[in-house]
Amino acid sequence: MSTQVNPAVPDAAKRVTTLTLSEMKERGIPIAMLTAYDYTSARLLDSAGVDVVLVGDSASNVMAGHETTLPITLDQMIYHAQCVVRGVERALVIVDLPFGSYQGNSKKALASAIRFMKEAGVHGVKAEGGQVIKSAVKRILDAGIPVMGHLGLTPQSIYRFGTYQVRAKDEVEAKRLLADAALLEEAGCFSLVLEKIPAELAADVSSSIKIPTIGIGAGLECDGQVLVTHDLLGLTTDFNPRFVRRYARLDEVIKESVARYIKDVRNRKFPTEDESY
Ligand code: KIV
Repeated sequence: MSTQVNPAVPDAAKRVTTLTLSEMKERGIPIAMLTAYDYTSARLLDSAGVDVVLVGDSASNVMAGHETTLPITLDQMIYHAQCVVRGVERALVIVDLPFGSYQGNSKKALASAIRFMKEAGVHGVKAEGGQVIKSAVKRILDAGIPVMGHLGLTPQSIYRFGTYQVRAKDEVEAKRLLADAALLEEAGCFSLVLEKIPAELAADVSSSIKIPTIGIGAGLECDGQVLVTHDLLGLTTDFNPRFVRRYARLDEVIKESVARYIKDVRNRKFPTEDESY
C-alpha cells in the first residue's frame, strides 16, 4: 500500500522541481517541507511523500548540540547534504547556506552555492535575509542555482535580534518584510520561508507574491509548512514553541527500547541461540 500522503499533487511519482512548487501554489495545494540531515531519515521522509527536504542549518542544534545555528561550517553542511541527497528519489532537496558562507560577499556566496551543487548534488540553496543579501542572491541565481529566501525570524541573526520572539509585530518591520519579500521574488527566488511572524502578515505576503511561501510559526495561509523533523517526531523535547506539533513521542519509544536492550544484556537474554552463529 502506498504511503503517499498527498495524492492530489500533480505527478506524485515524479521528481518535485521548483516548477512543481509554483504549480502547487497556483492550484492551491499546500506544500509539505521537512528537515533532514542524514540518509536514513531523508529516505523515510521521501518515501512518505514530503515535497521538499530541507537540509537545514538547524543541524547545528539537533545534530551537533550547539545552542545556535551559527557554528556549523560549510564543509559540515556539505556532508549532511551529501547524505540526504543519497536518500531522496522524489523530493526537492534544498540546503541552507550556513552562517559566514554568503553574507557580505557575493563572490563567496556563489562559490559556497556551487560547492553544494557539485559536491552534494542538491537542487537549490536557502539564504536568510532580504535587501542586505540581494547581491549574493542575484549572483547565485545568475549561475542558474535556485534560491529559496527566508524572512522573519532568521536564526543566523539571533545575536542582532537578542530574542527568538515573534518578528515583524510592529508596522515598520512588517513593511520592511513585505518589501523584502517583493525584492526576493523580483530577484528570482523560487520560494520563501516565513518564520515566526504574525499569521495575518504571512497571509498578506503570501497573497502579494506569486512564489510559494512556506511557513514555520506563520499561520495557515502560507502556501506550505515546514517543521524541524526532530521536533515533529518528539526527538527534541526541550524546545516547545507553540508552532511545533508533535506527531510522535519517539523520545519515549527510544528510551524504552534502549532500557529493554540494556536489561536483556544484563540478564544474558540477548542474543539467543537464533540470534547467534
Ligand atoms: O534550519 C532550519 O531547519 C530552517 C527551518 C526551520 C526553516 O531553516
